Amino acid sequence: MAIRNIRLEKDEILRKKSRVVEKYDERIKELIEDMFETMKVNDGAGLAAVQVGILKRIIVVEIPDHKFALINPKIIETEGEQECEEGCLSLPNQFYKTKRPMKVKVEGLDEDFNPVTIEAEGLLAVVLSHEIDHLDGILFIDRLER
Ligand code: NI
Repeated sequence: MAIRNIRLEKDEILRKKSRVVEKYDERIKELIEDMFETMKVNDGAGLAAVQVGILKRIIVVEIPDHKFALINPKIIETEGEQECEEGCLSLPNQFYKTKRPMKVKVEGLDEDFNPVTIEAEGLLAVVLSHEIDHLDGILFIDRLER
């Protein structure tokens, strides 16, 4: 396992669209392990592969009671709205209030490449929305209310 460098706000890669992961192999497994470790040492709640410079649709999440990776995640349903205080490891020391869905339903593949559906609410819904945005080149500052 290794800690990878986190790409910061001005890095153009953060604005690119990540590619669908077509097959599971050792490199994907290692990338996910590194992402967990990189997230942990940086005290993050979530991390997308693009943030370590890899344009693949992979995210990792770690909050109390939830720790998992998702490959090719897609939000298929949202419900309600919540206001939250958001930050991002690519935008250190920036925290702003945003609005996110209260609940999200997400489909994707788990770490073993098996299909999963996750129904999330509260903080987990915020983290999933934030990380899945990264896969389309969207940063949370794009969603601030003007
Ligand atoms: Ni982020």
